[in-house]
Amino acid sequence: MQDDSNDLVCNRSNNQTFEEILNKRLSRRQVLRGGLNAAAVSMFGGLALTGCGSDNDNTSSSTSASSTTTEATTPPLGFKSIATSTDDTVYVPEGYSGNVLYAWGDPVSDGPEFLFDAQNSAADQAQQAGMHHDGMRYFSLPLGSETSDHGLLAMNHEYVDDALIHIDGGYNYSPSTYSLEKANKEIAAHGVSVIEIQKTNGAWGVVRPSSYGRRITGATPMTLAGPVAGTEFVMTPDDPTGTEVLGTLNNCANGYTPWGTYLTCEENFHQYFGSRSGASLSDTDLNDYSRYGVSNSSSYGWETQVDRFDLDQNPNEPNRFGWIVEIDPYDPDSKPVKHTALGRFSHENAAYLVAPDNRVAVYSGDDSRFEYIYKFVTANAYNASNRTANMSLLDEGTLYVAKFNEDGSGTWLPLVFGENGLTAENGFRSQAEVLVKARAAADTVGATPMDRPEWITTNANTQEVYATLTNNSRRTASQVDAANPRANNQMGHIIRWRDTDGDVTNATFTWDIYVLAGSPDLEDENYHGTINGDVYSCPDGLWMDPNGILWIQTDISSSSIGSGIFEPFGHNQMLASDPSTGETRRFLTGPKGCEVTGIAASPDLKTLFVNIQHPGESSDTTPATPTAFSSWPNNARPRSATVVITKDDGGIIGT
Ligand code: FEO
Ligand code: CA
Ligand code: CA
Repeated sequence: MQDDSNDLVCNRSNNQTFEEILNKRLSRRQVLRGGLNAAAVSMFGGLALTGCGSDNDNTSSSTSASSTTTEATTPPLGFKSIATSTDDTVYVPEGYSGNVLYAWGDPVSDGPEFLFDAQNSAADQAQQAGMHHDGMRYFSLPLGSETSDHGLLAMNHEYVDDALIHIDGGYNYSPSTYSLEKANKEIAAHGVSVIEIQKTNGAWGVVRPSSYGRRITGATPMTLAGPVAGTEFVMTPDDPTGTEVLGTLNNCANGYTPWGTYLTCEENFHQYFGSRSGASLSDTDLNDYSRYGVSNSSSYGWETQVDRFDLDQNPNEPNRFGWIVEIDPYDPDSKPVKHTALGRFSHENAAYLVAPDNRVAVYSGDDSRFEYIYKFVTANAYNASNRTANMSLLDEGTLYVAKFNEDGSGTWLPLVFGENGLTAENGFRSQAEVLVKARAAADTVGATPMDRPEWITTNANTQEVYATLTNNSRRTASQVDAANPRANNQMGHIIRWRDTDGDVTNATFTWDIYVLAGSPDLEDENYHGTINGDVYSCPDGLWMDPNGILWIQTDISSSSIGSGIFEPFGHNQMLASDPSTGETRRFLTGPKGCEVTGIAASPDLKTLFVNIQHPGESSDTTPATPTAFSSWPNNARPRSATVVITKDDGGIIGT
């Protein structure tokens, strides 16, 4: 995501964070000091995807088991971990190779090529890779197969860098030259790409032309479905029925379904709306602007050019964003669907598990400080032989929000109109209102405020769920609880849980903390962490691969990378962690200013796709000096990009 200014604190609730509970499950000191181990130095060999070398020594890999274990049988990590890096390149371990597959501006099919001087038009951009690649999923071709040499990649384009997208910058750099064309180019650089990819003679490439190649942007028509569709909350002058929205925005992380569709998640949607007149905003019966951080001032100035982003004319437009969107990558003519039953908040991603009765649970975090973790359980069962029926499964079910108790137990609190105080007296007149104002509903039922929930991933073998809590510098000592055990939590941690009896329809669970991020090189006990192996900070992207390796991607904000308490970690990176031992090894380091986010693999796990987002994001980067901080990956204007990684011996990645 963008810098921390987007990580709003909008939670006005008084939900307690356990300070009144005396019997702490783990003493804070035990948590902070547990699991630290002596480092064993080994040599590393980093292969730069862009051809650079390195002579850095490795940092660490260690030996002892962490304080937490699982039932999973996980193969040991087999690669030599790499050092931290401050180079403007990507490193992967010895014995691995990679290359850039798909960068901002590359055509999805046979459209226009990228122009390095940023002169592509809005119409060009709508046929090219968007900016700021994020969550991603590989889909084998054809549908229903498990092929690993030909497939579709669906990926998100979260936001834009308005220093880089136009030759003279966006609204923030040049308001007097800002135009409808510029706004439309930025809108077209948001959303999702679907590209067709194929491995030929051992090398992956994008298939062009492709009948599957497709851009879904901030202007693509999509259906609004579920309990909120057709209600007054989502009616606008252009859509008086409240059933069709133009576009999806701030598509952060992703999910997918057992029936072969892609889920894209709308995160910081609040930043796209503003008041053309500058009028101040007040909350109304229909709009809880303040709880969602919607203000009269937007990030990009679209409201000056495009009516639907102007809250003066379209006060309900923000209610049409903040949802999980389902896309069928196999049907290029399909219309994306916003599923309102899963609630409206800053959805980071969506991870599913299937219950014994084949109902489906989808877990999703709300990434802002002191926000919540949610679970949606479908009313009906997944039917492997009826894909069409599965497409509406996410429209009917129960949304829950998590309460983490001090004793390692937890409760999923239902967000159901008429229950647990979700009544008209408390401002909820319908289930639609509960879903549109999900944050307020979660406040009301007493959910646990978390340290910025980012990605969630599941292990179908163990029914365990892991979630990153990336950081929260505003948690005070009096707000510390067992699930969020550090004040001024600048390093972040990973929590995990399992619903009772491994049945994801159950409303109770048990949980523990997998790891506290940080470095033993830092003196403050809040920053040490409990990592068994290579150190990292600010975990964000998270994926449990089918072999049981937990892949962790980091997002230290670009203003903090490499300095102060973040100096030990170097650039943002990706690590592999073995949940059976906690052992963690650094696998990839990114170029300057980037975040590493988005991961997918071919079914045989012999190809890994990783997204490098916002290289060059820095106060040094301006429209006049686009390469001042980074020139990755083309030794030119920096571009977010998908890199494809294989093992030189053709083996499984990570082993
Ligand atoms: Fe888009 Fe919370 O990261
Ligand atoms: Ca993220
Ligand atoms: Ca982040």
